[in-house]
Amino acid sequence: MNLKSDLTHPVFKAVASSARLLGIPVYVIGGYVRDLFLGRISKDIDFVTVGDGIKLAESVAGKLKCHNVSVFKNFGTAMLHFDEIQIEFVGARKESYYPESRKPAVYSGTLEDDQNRRDFTINAMAISLNDPDFGEFIDPFEGLDDLKAGIIRTPLNPDITFSDDPLRMMRAIRFASQLSFTINQSTFDAIRRNSGRISIISGERISEELNKIILTSKPSAGFILLDKCGLLNLILPQFVALKGAETLEGIGHKDNFYHTLEVLDKIAPKTDNLWLRWAAVLHDIGKPATRRFSKELGWTFHGHEVKGARMVAQIFRQLRLPLNEKMKYVQKLVELHLRPIALTDEEVTDSAVRRLLFEAGDDIDDLMTLCEADITSKNREKVQRFLNNFAQVRKKLIEIEEKDRIRNWQPPLTGEIIMETFGLSPGKNVGVLKNAIREAILDGIIENSYEKAFEFLLEEGKRLGLELKQNQK
Ligand code: CTP
Repeated sequence: MNLKSDLTHPVFKAVASSARLLGIPVYVIGGYVRDLFLGRISKDIDFVTVGDGIKLAESVAGKLKCHNVSVFKNFGTAMLHFDEIQIEFVGARKESYYPESRKPAVYSGTLEDDQNRRDFTINAMAISLNDPDFGEFIDPFEGLDDLKAGIIRTPLNPDITFSDDPLRMMRAIRFASQLSFTINQSTFDAIRRNSGRISIISGERISEELNKIILTSKPSAGFILLDKCGLLNLILPQFVALKGAETLEGIGHKDNFYHTLEVLDKIAPKTDNLWLRWAAVLHDIGKPATRRFSKELGWTFHGHEVKGARMVAQIFRQLRLPLNEKMKYVQKLVELHLRPIALTDEEVTDSAVRRLLFEAGDDIDDLMTLCEADITSKNREKVQRFLNNFAQVRKKLIEIEEKDRIRNWQPPLTGEIIMETFGLSPGKNVGVLKNAIREAILDGIIENSYEKAFEFLLEEGKRLGLELKQNQK
């Protein structure tokens, strides 16, 4: 098969002509070829040359007049950017050499050696850019058949492929979830056998794959595969601990593992925000640690949202996810995820809505999206009742926000003003007064204005026996 008509981008011409000048064969390989058949335009193009990849990259950069070549000598690779496209060059190798394998880079293999050492048949397809057969499709492992049949399979014995780079076990599941493919049985059995080897892979690389799984359209599929092969228990044991639907004295509780996966699948069509999806993954993570049974109350998970929010930090650290505002956002959503439901239990009062707005700030819409996804009851009547209540809460949120502007609100009196008024130094009383003002506004006791807050401050100060500072009298 010749694919010349698919190689019209000027990059291919430049690479072919540089390789001709250097007298080395070059091929397009990997994800770009796979995506071509999937009808997806990839912005990453990988080239493999039977020769020096770095020299080729430098020559191509000269031709394309781009001067931003990054060279990774240890890996024998080089990368450059042209027109939003990321181009990578590598010399064909006999053995694979991926970041954590600690093996020396071995070059000077043939194209077939290199294809042998790639992760999956669908990623090992190549296209020649060389003179006699420019555009010729080279597919020694029938990757195209696997692509058409929707199968993930390793080119070599899977035990070898996975021991070359254990991250490929996660990649297999990631590709299976992204493409809705099936992992070939012997490949999957090898993942099960080799899962323990994931321990040599860095948290960053693992979470990069996990994030991609979380961002698929049906993330439960990826999680179920991760669980089946034993990887999930190694990378996120806290999630596996959600499993089980125990019954005591005739009272059962739902299986929080499958419930969480349902929530994740339900939120997927509503948002591509990775961190909101992470909040769905972790919203009930505190349940196993807080699970109690009593005859009077049945199963309870009191405080699981607070415990869960604490566990978020530990999990983010463990997976080398960012410990910044993204983590804080996930923590906040986990901690607040019961609040909108609790609101609907009774009459939705202004002050309860104001408090929720104050605590959630700009993340209020995301919180509501999470809470709506959290309703997974099979009882249609119950679901409808919850959704109606949420619609009510959303309406009220808009009304209160328009009226009181509580989102991202800061109480009108600062600590400095309080100290200045009573001639106080920083200390307990300043905090007490600040809190009292905030609470009074949130409860609707006083209006959200400087004047009303100041009047209230004077009264509260009096109650505490504080004297006004001389110049304030
Ligand atoms: N590859 C491999 N083993 C790895 C990583 C990559 O064999 N652990 C090979 C595969 O041939 C892959 C190519 O390197 O196609 C490029 O890898 P990468 O850019 O990470 O992935 P893509 O296949 O392009 O897919 P995606 O962009 O979705 O990550």
